[in-house]
Parts: sequence; C-alpha cells; structure tokens
Amino acid sequence: MKKLEVFGVSKLNGQIKISGSKNASLPILAATLLSGKKISLTNVPRVKDVETMIKLLESMGSKVKKFQKGNSLLIQNNKKIKTKAGYNLMSTMRAGIIVLGPLLARFGKAKVSTPGGCSIGFRPIDLHLEALKSMGVNYKIINGYVHASAKNGLIGTKIKFPKVSVGATENLLIASCLAKGQTILSNCAIEPEIKDLTKFLNTIGAKITWTGKRQVKIIGVKKFKEANFKIMFDRIEAGTMLIAGAINQNNLRIKSVDPTILKTEINILKKIGAKIIQRKSEIIIQGRKKIKNINIKTSPFPGFATDLQAQMMVLLCKANKKSSIKEDIFENRFQSVSELRRMNAAIEVRGNKAIIKGNTIFKGAQVMATDLRASASLILAALCAKGKTIISRIYHLDRGYEDIEKKLKKVGAKIRRID
Ligand code: EPZ
Repeated sequence: MKKLEVFGVSKLNGQIKISGSKNASLPILAATLLSGKKISLTNVPRVKDVETMIKLLESMGSKVKKFQKGNSLLIQNNKKIKTKAGYNLMSTMRAGIIVLGPLLARFGKAKVSTPGGCSIGFRPIDLHLEALKSMGVNYKIINGYVHASAKNGLIGTKIKFPKVSVGATENLLIASCLAKGQTILSNCAIEPEIKDLTKFLNTIGAKITWTGKRQVKIIGVKKFKEANFKIMFDRIEAGTMLIAGAINQNNLRIKSVDPTILKTEINILKKIGAKIIQRKSEIIIQGRKKIKNINIKTSPFPGFATDLQAQMMVLLCKANKKSSIKEDIFENRFQSVSELRRMNAAIEVRGNKAIIKGNTIFKGAQVMATDLRASASLILAALCAKGKTIISRIYHLDRGYEDIEKKLKKVGAKIRRID
C-alpha cells in the first residue's frame, strides 16, 4: 500500500507508546561489526532503514536472527566478514557509511560505496574520511566507492572535528574502540543517540569516557564480550507525537520516553502555549486553542532538532501570528512547504528561513511525501485539515516510523493505508 488516506479534523485523545530509536539502532548495528561475539539487541524499531542496515550487514556475512516480530535481534559477525558495502543498499540509506569505521578498525580494509545525496542535502562524508586519515587510514574514491585501508591498524590520536557531525562522530567513536592507544575526539555531536551508542560500546567492553561537553576519550581494546542491550526510545518519534498533541487541542500521553532529553522541544511547546506534565517515563500534553507564534532555528543537540523542523512548521501554521524557522543544518530541508501550501498553508521560504504566516485553516488535498520527516508533517497537517487528504510516496514515512497509523488510529485519527 503506497498511500495514506486521512480524514480531518481528527481529535486525538489517549496514549501512544514510543518505539525504539532508529537513529540509535543504525550506528549500534554498524558497531556490532567490531566484534565476533554474540550480541542481542532489544527494542529495535521495525522500520525500513533498520531492515536496510540488517541487509547490509548480512550482505557482508553477518548472521542476524529476528525475534518477537523483529523487535529483538541476535547478531553474530564472525571472522568471515566481507569488507564491502555495495551501492544498492548504501544509496537508499546514508547511515550505511558508519560501517566504514568498524570495518577498518577490525579488518584494516574496506570498500564502501559513497552514500550519495538525498532530498534534504548533499550528505558529504569528508569529515568521516579526514578524521579516519588522521588515524592512519589511506583512501581513494574510485567510481563512487571509498577504497580504504589501514595495514598497521588504526593508531589512536587527537581529532578535532571542524564541524559538528552526528555520523562522523559515530564512525570515529566506533573505530577508535579497536585503535592502538588512546583517541581524543573534540567538537563532537552529542545527540542522545550517540550517548546510547557509547553505552552499547562500553557494554561490549570498550573503554569510552566523555571528558567534556563535546569531548570524548577512547582507550583502544583488543577484544569484546557477548552482551544484551536495549535500544533507547525514538526521540524524534516522541517529538513528532508531542507536536501532534499540541495541534488542535488534542490530549496525548506519550509513554516510554525520557522527558529530560526533549527539554528544548518541550520548552518551545510550552512557550507556544501547550500544557505539559512530565513524569519519569512519560509526557502528557494538552493543546490549547490559542497557539502563540515563535521564531526558532535548528541546531545540533541540545538545540532544536532539525528532524522536528517540518513537524513544527505545521504547528506554527496554526499559530495566531507570524513565526519563522531557520534551518541551519541541511541545505534543502523545506521540501514539505510546497505540499503544505497545497493544503492552504501560507509559508514563504527565503534562503534557509521559512516565514509562516499563521492562522491557517488546513484543507484536505492530494499531497506527496518527499522525505522521512516531511511525510510526518503531512500527516499532522492532514489530521487538522477539513476533509480528505491522500498522501502518496509513503515509503519515505516507513523508513523511520513504526506502525504510525496504528498508533494514531488508536487515539482517534481517521487514517488508513490504501493502494
Ligand atoms: C544524522 O544524519 C541523522 N541520521 C539525521 O536524521 C539528522 O538529521 C542529522 O544527523 C542531524 O542531526 C541518523 O542518525 C541516521 P550530520 P548525519 O553528519 O549523520 C554536514 C532522520 O530524519 N556534513 O550531523 O548524516 C551535512 O551535510 C535523519 O532520521 C559534512 O559537511 O548528519 C549536514 O549539513 C535525517 N561533512 C551537517 O554536516 C560530513 O562528512 C550535519 O550532518 C558529514 C556531514
């Protein structure tokens, strides 16, 4: 089924349990390449990008067993791993580049397709490659593949990233676990998913200590142990559902979350006027009739998450006055705007800034998903639009949201898949 049919205006009332994190699962799956021991992962979200990462590992010779409808995995990457990651899988999921670090660290060589760009930006990997080079890696890019080698293995060193990058931080964090000696990484990304990756690596026997806000020290080890590890909750799914609660006076109880890592987003929603109660592992949000306007910009954690920008855009369309959102991370992440305009939104884009007029009465329309988070924003708009909305190309949505229409239907949304 390739489309979603949504009838608005839907009132949402009830509780939503958040799935495991896609953006923690992907680097942790890549990191299992470091070790030949059995590793079991639980709370793994059943989403397309995770399936693609599993296929990528299996294409290299990983043994992956799925249990409990795929939310638990048992992985074993024995010695006979092929150190090649092909274009077909890499071109559909850019995070595949994070296998580069572990392959070089354990096997001293790798042939990995460059991930290629995507609709939100060029997605270069220069930060990954330059940092690996400083650990003794030689590489050449030939016909869209990175041919990399480190015949004496990786040598621990000091690396300061010229720019904050989630993927580059993850690649180097993983690679350094098997490097000779100590590595200090500075100007790192510190997203909660990176802290979850750190927890996983230390659980299998790595020696990682965060020594500063954006600085981490890794002492190379020689071997790892078997481990069981539970993936953290999906921070972006939780943020998406919080925004759903704030729109249209809905009342949602978001469960299985850690509210402390959504502090920035919760503060913004409170400023906009939503009523929010935080408990140890859940957040209750009640939308208010009056939604106040605000000017925000995206920035690396702990700033406002770029992965919630498209969803917040919908909420600000309902604000009582003009708002703006500045997208400071990716060069082309306003794709949802043209589709939201088809639903009667009044949004103007000037460079990397979107000006949102407010007081929008969304109207149902036929719209097209352009990327993962834009597809979520179209659902939010459809839920508060008068009439029927059909969202096509929802394969984008399935990359990162587990059973989203089931979860929304349970709290009152009139939403279903159609051909
Ligand atoms: C991760 O992507 C996330 N993906 C993205 O989520 C998220 O939007 C992004 O971090 C920022 O938070 C996963 O975790 C799987 P970056 P990543 O390297 O690692 C530039 C989603 O919706 N850059 O922090 O690719 C880059 O072009 C996805 O779940 C370089 O210039 O992000 C971008 O402008 C979308 N050179 C900026 O840095 C490099 O070598 C941040 O990218 C690497 C990145």
